[in-house]
Amino acid sequence: MVSFTEEETRAVYEAIYARRDIRRFRSEPIPDDVLERLVDAAHHAPSVGFSQPWDFVVIRDEETKSDIKEIASRAIAAAQAAYEEPRQSEFGQLKLEGIEESPVNLCVTCDPTRGGPHVLGRNSMRRTDVYSTCLAVQNLWLAARAEGVGVGWVSFLYPAEVREVLGIPPHVKPIAYLCLGYPESFPDEPTLQTEGWRDRIDLEELVHTGGWDARAGSE
Ligand SMILES: Cc1cc2nc3c(=O)[nH]c(=O)nc-3n(C[C@H](O)[C@H](O)[C@H](O)COP(=O)(O)O)c2cc1C
Repeated sequence: MVSFTEEETRAVYEAIYARRDIRRFRSEPIPDDVLERLVDAAHHAPSVGFSQPWDFVVIRDEETKSDIKEIASRAIAAAQAAYEEPRQSEFGQLKLEGIEESPVNLCVTCDPTRGGPHVLGRNSMRRTDVYSTCLAVQNLWLAARAEGVGVGWVSFLYPAEVREVLGIPPHVKPIAYLCLGYPESFPDEPTLQTEGWRDRIDLEELVHTGGWDARAGSE
């Protein structure tokens, strides 16, 4: 059984608090062994019924990145058009992806058929396959932070088009499109907070002890 020293425990929290979504990258490549460790960390995430519904599509090719970037540009323009001023202009100032700047793009997919028709634990919560895939992403994201690698999740995309570009089979869902690379910096707080878009919510507002209407600490 593994037990953690005090320093190792602190390091886990450090990775959690210092993790950031990264959209500005330096050009150095990610060594293969580092990328392998990150994907292996993802593959050790918990999954419903141990179904391991994920696959990882690694993209380094500039042409493929450019095809994905084109999809993102359209999705971002569509999102911007839905805002009213002054939010629309503020949105236009945000950098929302680093697809072409990052040396590696990684599409993490979810195969709902993995593990067969009766995956233990999925009977009454069908989307637990997707939850599991997101946990793989989080594992990778934290391991990447510890390795000094930045990760940016791009959700301004149309999944059907991503599937087509990457040749993903029709029954497999693209869940996360990630940009990986060494960052210009790891900001201390979320970029959206620094840019005045949104603040972190006070934790006391979110903890319901004993039931939804009870206040924290007054069970
Ligand atoms: C499911 C998901 C989708 C996201 N999509 C985008 C995106 O398309 N573009 C972007 O700039 N950030 C995206 N983010 C990053 C969030 O904006 C970021 O996690 C949040 O602002 C908090 O910042 P932090 O990750 O640095 O703590 C996404 C994050 C998640 C979890």
